[in-house]
This record gives sequence, structure tokens and C-alpha cells, in this order.
Amino acid sequence: MDGSAYVGAVVRLTSGLAGTGSVVATVTTDGAGNFYTSSVAGLASGLYTDAAGPGQTPRAMQTQVRSGACNSCHAGSSRIVAD
Ligand code: HEC
Repeated sequence: MDGSAYVGAVVRLTSGLAGTGSVVATVTTDGAGNFYTSSVAGLASGLYTDAAGPGQTPRAMQTQVRSGACNSCHAGSSRIVAD
């Protein structure tokens, strides 16, 4: 990823690590590379997430997320990478 916004990157929230378990939500980034996940059931108790760009190979976060505010951690040099 070159740091530009991806349109159409697919972010998934799942019950298991790296896309395993059930897929609770799938969101596609908008024209600014942003997405909105604040109303996902079960998120407060923890879900796993991964993201796939045009290469369609998901990159998974190894720890659970409990917030849809991905940018609270993934900002600046910690931006989410999608292949
Ligand atoms: C509490 C801070 C925090 C929040 C909130 C957070 N992340 Fe992460 N994320 C991390 C950290 C730290 C890593 C690197 C270590 C790891 O994978 O656990 C990471 C890694 C990732 C990766 C793997 C990146 C790579 O280069 O392989 C993806 C994809 C990802 N996060 C997506 C998300 C999404 C989507 C959300 C919102 C639903 C989110 N993250 C919310 C801290 C956070």
C-alpha cells in the first residue's frame, strides 16, 4: 500500500482470528478510504478483524477490537494496510 486511500477495500469483523468463525460484519471503504462500524452487534465484547484490498489477500489484526473507532489506533504511521 502506498498510503493513498483505497476505495473498495473490504474490512471484515469476525468471531475468530483472521477471518475464521462467523463473519459478523463486512464493510467496504468509501471514496475517502473510510468506513463506519460503530453499530456492530458484539463489538463491545470483542471481535477480530481483517482487511483486504485489490490483491484480495486479507491482513489480519492479531488482537481483538472492541471499538469501531479504528482510527483511534490506526492513524499516522499506524494506518491500516490492505494488500
Ligand atoms: C486499541 C487499538 C486498535 C484499534 C481500536 C484497532 N486496531 Fe487494528 N491493530 C492494532 C495493532 C496494535 C495492530 C498490530 C498488531 C496486531 O496485529 O495485533 C493492528 C493491526 C491491524 C491489522 C493488520 C495490519 C497489517 O499490516 O497486517 C488490520 C488489518 C487492522 N489492525 C484492522 C483494524 C480495524 C479494521 C479496526 C477497526 C474495526 C482496528 N484495526 C482497530 C491496534 C488497533
